Amino acid sequence: MIYLDYVSTTPLNKEVNQMYQSLLNDYFANADSLYSLGLQTSSLMEKSRSLIAQMLNVKPTEIIFTSGASESNNTAIKGCAFQYQNRGKHIITTAIEHSSVYNTCLQLRDVFGFDVDFISVDQNGHIDLDELKNKIRDDTILISIMYVNNEIGSIQPIDKIRELILNMNPKIKLHVDMVQALGKIPVDLSLVDMASFSAHKIYGLKGSGVLYKKESTTLVPLICGGQQENNLRGGTSNTATHIMFAKTLRLALEDQAQKFQRVHALNQYVRNELMREKDIVINSPIENCSPYILSFSAIGYKPEVILHALEAKECYVSTKSTCSSHKNDVSRTLAAMGVDDAIAKSAIRISFSHLTTQEEIDEFLYHLQTILKTIKKQR
Ligand SMILES: Cc1ncc(COP(=O)(O)O)c(C=O)c1O
Repeated sequence: MIYLDYVSTTPLNKEVNQMYQSLLNDYFANADSLYSLGLQTSSLMEKSRSLIAQMLNVKPTEIIFTSGASESNNTAIKGCAFQYQNRGKHIITTAIEHSSVYNTCLQLRDVFGFDVDFISVDQNGHIDLDELKNKIRDDTILISIMYVNNEIGSIQPIDKIRELILNMNPKIKLHVDMVQALGKIPVDLSLVDMASFSAHKIYGLKGSGVLYKKESTTLVPLICGGQQENNLRGGTSNTATHIMFAKTLRLALEDQAQKFQRVHALNQYVRNELMREKDIVINSPIENCSPYILSFSAIGYKPEVILHALEAKECYVSTKSTCSSHKNDVSRTLAAMGVDDAIAKSAIRISFSHLTTQEEIDEFLYHLQTILKTIKKQR
């Protein structure tokens, strides 16, 4: 099998899996129980929180365990909007956010009456800082912008966005979806008020996430209930899962720079090979782009046909963001980049891991080239 869809999800790390299984058996007690079994579970969970905080260079009280980045994004954006709506109801985000940010902002606009600006991106998938500057108002309370785009890999200038906020309206809260950055490129949480992370993108458990929230930021909880997660997320803690996040993160941050170099070289090789094909254009930008993601379009071909032909060779890629793969429309990211309809309609995304080998890449390229020669183009 050649798996090239690591952006969608990653295989579970064996060490994480083993430790998780034993935690499930041995530490099942409710972390809020007052007897020693509960206290043991709770202390492991708090140790995990402290380790995560240490690795991310923040305070343990700023780490909130969630069920994944979709929940982190919803909590950050709605929690912030509801908390600060007396200051204003204007939110800025981008047209290329993951659906858990994009649709949350739509909901705030359509159901709760917030005013949302979705700023555009250039042909490389990067925001225009001047456009952002022009959109910032006195009643802007939140800016939510992703760090690494999950469809093409473009990287947004978080430091410059922070600078703009400081100069124009320092009360604005900055939320950044860092899901595709964690474990791949350095993340600097001193620049943001909130950030979202997911474990299953870094070889951890599905249904496991973290929301970083600066102490100075207050959120209205989405799930009212008990005292869990500092009153921000009611419900009995999913302790074994939360405990595993620390180990998952430690493993993901190990040798990050070397892994990056390896993946960068593989990406460069695939790019060069694909550029030789006459019907292929590369959608991922060359600069300010994560090497872990490479989007290209085989113009004139239906991407689903290529995907399934590759699948028949046990080679797994995706057409666009997996969360919107069941919709028949073109990729929202590529549409926002203003690429031709023919390009937007034929996009394929491959995504790499430090585990990806040169042999796998060569085999993938061989299959792709053969498929392009044998399947029919669309009229
Ligand atoms: C950029 C980005 N944000 C958020 C998510 C949602 O993550 P989760 O599956 O943990 O809810 C994803 C996953 O597809 C993603 O790529």
